[in-house]
Amino acid sequence: MSYKEEYRKSIETPEAFWAEKAEAVKWFKKPVTILSKDENGIDRWFADGEMNTAYLALDYHVESGRGDQDALIFDSPVTDTKQRYTYSELRDAVAKFAGVLKAQGVEKGDRVVIYMPMIAEAVIAMLGVARLGAIHSVVFGGFAPHELAVRIDDAEPKVVVTASCGIEIAKVIEYKPLLDEAIRKSAHQPDSCIVFQRPQVTASMIEGRDIDWATAVATAEPADCTPVKATDPLYILYTSGTTGKPKGVVRDNGGHAVALKYSMKAIYNMEPGDVFWAASDVGWVVGHSYIVYGPLLAGCTTIVYEGKPIKTPDAGAFWRVCAEYGAKALFAAPTAFRAIKKEDPDSELLKQYDLSKLQTIFMAGERLDPPTYHWTKETLGKPVIDHWWQTETGWAICGNLTGVEMLEPKPGSSTVPVSGFNIHILDHDGNELPNGEQGNIALKLPLPPSCLPTVWGDFERFRTGYLSEFPGYYCSGDGGYKDDDGYIFIMGRTDDVINVAGHRLSTGEMEEIVADHPAVAECAVIGINDPLKGQQPIGLVLLKNGVEIDDAQIEAELVAMVRKEIGAVACFRRAIVVQRLPKTRSGKILRKLLRQIADGQEYTVPSTIDDPASLPEIQEIMGRNGLVS
Ligand code: COA
Ligand code: AMP
Repeated sequence: MSYKEEYRKSIETPEAFWAEKAEAVKWFKKPVTILSKDENGIDRWFADGEMNTAYLALDYHVESGRGDQDALIFDSPVTDTKQRYTYSELRDAVAKFAGVLKAQGVEKGDRVVIYMPMIAEAVIAMLGVARLGAIHSVVFGGFAPHELAVRIDDAEPKVVVTASCGIEIAKVIEYKPLLDEAIRKSAHQPDSCIVFQRPQVTASMIEGRDIDWATAVATAEPADCTPVKATDPLYILYTSGTTGKPKGVVRDNGGHAVALKYSMKAIYNMEPGDVFWAASDVGWVVGHSYIVYGPLLAGCTTIVYEGKPIKTPDAGAFWRVCAEYGAKALFAAPTAFRAIKKEDPDSELLKQYDLSKLQTIFMAGERLDPPTYHWTKETLGKPVIDHWWQTETGWAICGNLTGVEMLEPKPGSSTVPVSGFNIHILDHDGNELPNGEQGNIALKLPLPPSCLPTVWGDFERFRTGYLSEFPGYYCSGDGGYKDDDGYIFIMGRTDDVINVAGHRLSTGEMEEIVADHPAVAECAVIGINDPLKGQQPIGLVLLKNGVEIDDAQIEAELVAMVRKEIGAVACFRRAIVVQRLPKTRSGKILRKLLRQIADGQEYTVPSTIDDPASLPEIQEIMGRNGLVS
């Protein structure tokens, strides 16, 4: 079938389209209702279907004769460890861990927070929670205690699962003290914490609360799969919004399983038994969807890689993993390839590896800039596919459906809308823009399966944040345009969200932290272009009258504050003192203008500006500090 035909069916007859795709899933109770509205008036998929996602990811394959096939390969250059789990072994490990959780009182609908590094046990913990019909909330290991505490308070987990440490190249990051601090800071207190002790660090345990993973697993009774409704939540994944409070994106079980299984063939062209490698982290949506659920739902082999594209031990790390395990597809963020290109521009290291099994490279998480696209394509001599998606959708909104019909990629474009996503480019008043004109990217409702039905515990935030700006549409928060061939070009966020090395962060949250410094009267944090990480945040701060503090000192203090509150991953390294910030007459800081200045773009001075003289002044300060590209 052609892409056009596949896409047309998904938009014109969505119920028939997704009912057919749902046939690929083994339901405990097959859904009769394909699309309906929930109590909030939100479109829901397969409402009367019953299933269990962990069953579909593991038991189903064992029952269908895939028990001896590798399900998961753990490869950790930082600890020199390699480990394989067949589908039977992974199913057994997950059933035992689910038994441990059950013994701690975890039941269907309960929340379990998982704060772990990239080890196989993180996947076992996620699937163990899913097996019980409970809801996991994985928190990225690079987040600081404050971020973890905010998530614990919002998700109110019965149990938290962690490991004694993670390894960042050569740095050992002790997780347990971070978790203990987060629990001290949070109002909600979990009943217990399960700790996986790694050989590099033995975490100290709190009597009566902390449970040793290995000891508990040794005596656990394996737990069975609990049937859940398709619309019951599988997980909550917090993501950055425009304020300091992250949004708990809720993912359902049924729509997610159907969409992800479909995507493995339609987008990634994977067959059962193929090796799929998403070089991301389980703390992000890419990790949830394409390290854990997608490959396992499709009967593929997934790779859990505890390492980086460079320095573990060198810029040939990705090629080594692909060659060693015969990966058919590699999925990573463009920043990873920029890092490899910087270290090994002539790709000398590639010559050591046989990548004949690798067919396609997929990229997402941030804009794939044309130079990185060309370098990767020419270096590897394979198709490079950009695809655009968000935590909120759980899978690609735009892409190249390589398993349906591979279209000719266009550098700078994430190709065309994926089945079910009805994309429109709208101006601020909600009018459709002509081809070639940049505007807000909005998705006409209903959204296809897997997209969020609410923000955890806060439907109003979902409604106002996503559905109210353009009635009848989901507002993506991204801007871009469509060309005459229907190709979509994503040009960046229209809000205060930035992407640093493929990590989604909120400048609004950083502003809240910076503004908390006693010397700071006002501040703006903006994302500026960065040749390696895509974007990096910088702070522009106005000091309170009469405050005497050295510029270098205030910068160091602010950098330390953001690092402590959010984590090193925020990459907030510059805070510059300014005399004035450009504002509108109503007092709103002109952040877009500041971004344009930093990016060396032409700008028009808005008629609403209060103090036009502030512009050349700030331009000079930013230039002097090396912040203008
Ligand atoms: N736990 C603890 N700390 C972490 C962490 C984690 N899981 N991940 C990152 N950090 C820390 C790093 O150690 C670093 O700390 P430092 O400031 O003390 O050096 C800081 O956060 C910034 O890390 P990072 O942005 O990763 O920069 P880097 O210079 O160490 O590495 C890259 C650059 C490009 C190699 C790396 O960012 C990368 O591999 N990016 C790909 C990201 C990705 O896959 N994203 C998923 C989206 S699909
Ligand atoms: P996350 O929710 O962490 O996956 O981040 C989603 C955001 O990352 C999107 O809203 C985009 O701004 C950006 N993004 C993801 N993939 C792409 C892509 N292929 N091209 C451009 N931006 C992307």
